[in-house]
Amino acid sequence: MDLKSLIRDIPDFPKPGITFRDITTLLSNPEGLRYAIDTLTQKCKDAGLVPDYIVGMESRGFIFGTPLAYTLNAGFVPVRKPGKLPAAVHAVEYELEYGTDRLEIHQDAIDGRSRVLIVDDLIATGGTAKATADLLEQIGCQVLGFSFIIELTELEGRKKLPDVPIITLVQY
Ligand code: PRP
Ligand code: ADE
Repeated sequence: MDLKSLIRDIPDFPKPGITFRDITTLLSNPEGLRYAIDTLTQKCKDAGLVPDYIVGMESRGFIFGTPLAYTLNAGFVPVRKPGKLPAAVHAVEYELEYGTDRLEIHQDAIDGRSRVLIVDDLIATGGTAKATADLLEQIGCQVLGFSFIIELTELEGRKKLPDVPIITLVQY
């Protein structure tokens, strides 16, 4: 399956010079969606990743993280942008390819003995994934690995991440 052919390129979005890799066209394709989730699942199993929880980042990490939690028999825990989670949170600041933001996780979502796989649609600078790993490591969790559909290799985001398996399906 050629996943790249299902991902749409939008030039100059959200600002000039950024080529936005749009996964909505992959999501709306039944075979593409199934292939993406099945392949991520198999690669996680092949890498020996057996997480207690998948942590997915708002918003596109929710889309891929939840079905992967289902196929890997793990729970799903959302990491959200500020002010969205209703109970007490831990928070961390992070950088994007195009801006800065802050991420939050419920304090009681995960305990320090948990093994976690971090899932998002795309790694660009790696700022979001690194911030999420830092947040989880503050709590004391073991970050087993990372999983993304898309890697923007020129930005070398994986260099920011700890030395654990990093699964990606499509590289630009
Ligand atoms: C995008 C993407 C990743 C992040 C990657 O999310 O879904 O979460 O940027 O960039 P980085 O590796 O440079 O940190 P965005 O913040 O645009 O939010 P969205 O999913 O809600 O659109
Ligand atoms: N998130 C950060 N950079 C992105 C890009 N180029 N396309 C889609 N999502 C992104």
